[in-house]
Amino acid sequence: MSKKIIVANWKMNPVSLKEAEALLTKVANKSNFKKIEVVVCPPFLYLEKLNKISKKFKLGAQDVFYEERGAFTGEISAPMLVNLKAEYVIIGHSERRKLGETNAEINKKIKAALFFGLKPIVCVGETERDENHEYFEVVKTQVKECLNGINKESLGKLVIAYEPVWALSTTLERRDATPADSHEMVIFIKKILSDKFGVKTKMPRIIYGGSVNEKSVLGFLKDGGAEGVLTGAASLNPEKFSEIIKIAESL
Ligand code: PGA
Repeated sequence: MSKKIIVANWKMNPVSLKEAEALLTKVANKSNFKKIEVVVCPPFLYLEKLNKISKKFKLGAQDVFYEERGAFTGEISAPMLVNLKAEYVIIGHSERRKLGETNAEINKKIKAALFFGLKPIVCVGETERDENHEYFEVVKTQVKECLNGINKESLGKLVIAYEPVWALSTTLERRDATPADSHEMVIFIKKILSDKFGVKTKMPRIIYGGSVNEKSVLGFLKDGGAEGVLTGAASLNPEKFSEIIKIAESL
């Protein structure tokens, strides 16, 4: 069985390297784990320095561009991230989709990441839950289009993060998702993958994200079918994040 994976998505925080170093140092001092993987995804700028602070954590980026080099102003390529010792990269986060990123672009980014040896953490999730259960179709389309043309052998390197946008901590009038909501979608995503790639294929880890904190993490890991969690707001709080790590390690 693969290790459980806890991902910290710092988003566009904090605003200085000094604060970033202080945050990671605090979490490192409070956390001891062997059974799980913990991946910290800071803004690009801090990757190099944070790598020197602690070897406990793996590093990930929050996005990647699909070309290797050249005239792409403002973009960061997969080989650049590999050179900074990033091992993972979040691709297709709902906040990037909101800025216009499409499944086709996400697909190209996943392929580039895999080609250069990065492990993609692919985010999927509906913006709302409608009574007709159309949200299943939304997630199905995302999974299929994002993974289009990915070869079977690479599938096990992926992590798929199910993040219902209506449950994110930053969504206005948000609602809490339950472990049952997560479990249902984990099973559904596994079914899409086995239909597409065959049952014998090594499957990605499927994790849950959306306002996960030290109180809710146990439910998602125990009853939500999730092999890990992706945390945003809670990952910026060293007490909360180290508690999340402790709970995941204890299972
Ligand atoms: P949240 O963020 O934990 O603050 O809801 C998760 C995410 O957006 O990835």
